[in-house]
Amino acid sequence: MSMHFKIPSATPGPARKRVRKAVFPVAGLGTRFLPATKAVPKEMLPIIDRPLIQYAVDEAREAGIEELIFITGRGKTAIVEHFDTAFELEATMKDRAKALEILEPTRIQPGNLLTVRQQVPLGLGHAIWCARAVVGDEPFAVLLPDELMIGAPGCLRQMVDAYDMLGGNLVSVLEVPEEEVSSYGVIAPGWRDGALTEVKGLVEKPRREDAPSNLIISGRYILQPEVMRTLETQEKGAGGEIQLTDAMARMVGDQPFHAVTFAGRRFDCGSKAGFVEATLTLALERADLAADVRAIMQKLLDRPGADSVPATGLGAVLASAA
Ligand code: G1P
Repeated sequence: MSMHFKIPSATPGPARKRVRKAVFPVAGLGTRFLPATKAVPKEMLPIIDRPLIQYAVDEAREAGIEELIFITGRGKTAIVEHFDTAFELEATMKDRAKALEILEPTRIQPGNLLTVRQQVPLGLGHAIWCARAVVGDEPFAVLLPDELMIGAPGCLRQMVDAYDMLGGNLVSVLEVPEEEVSSYGVIAPGWRDGALTEVKGLVEKPRREDAPSNLIISGRYILQPEVMRTLETQEKGAGGEIQLTDAMARMVGDQPFHAVTFAGRRFDCGSKAGFVEATLTLALERADLAADVRAIMQKLLDRPGADSVPATGLGAVLASAA
């Protein structure tokens, strides 16, 4: 259980409520991907052949999550359809003797997918608060599907392992260059031990000079239900939105708060370059695609003018494929 961490002081915690529920905020408008996201939810954009939401749901299930709670909004029906039985599709595939296993990850135990509408986009904190009735009095996970986390075990699994030892609240973190901290939630770190860091404070989208560290919250949380009570009185913060980070910050000191540095790779699929990087990286790792994609990349790199591609970010991915 504790193989990812070495915490000398860790003792087995008291019997804790298992993390069975996960909240997926999917009501965002996806303006950064317009016009693609005018009629298609951004969470349905595929990295190769799986929509982003599928990666997040797979990660949650691997971590033992049973109940999926989607915070949706107008125009987001396709996400729920994706996890429904597609009767005509399946009947036609069966008639044509096509294997149905490919649809297996889209199947949900009846009753285990719940949707709550967030009528107005007032911020991540407000979206999470909309789930208070279905979360009830249990710890729960939050997964932001824009953040694609690839690892074995997955990010939430690593966090649940830490939760089993520490209880309380956990966020996933990773280090970014200082100039990027102002786009994220940032933690004020206390002691650090392997993948674990004590969280002494949190601040949403600080100015670079005010940031307490370069450890950003990377879109995975395990939270105690008390956060719902805190969110009830949460005032608007960064960007004029009700921020989950601000509510969490108010709980520090009352409850254990830790961060887990994910041992794996993270792709920011909320940005176009991150999305393309994820697509290329995962394509190069697939037996059915790697050779073809590598050849395509090689061709692109060999074409006249290709050496003007910067050797950072996406350029580095292309270069490493060469
Ligand atoms: C949200 C959170 C932020 C976190 C980020 C991760 O911000 O508020 O704390 O670091 O997701 O992607 P958003 O991207 O919605 O502005």
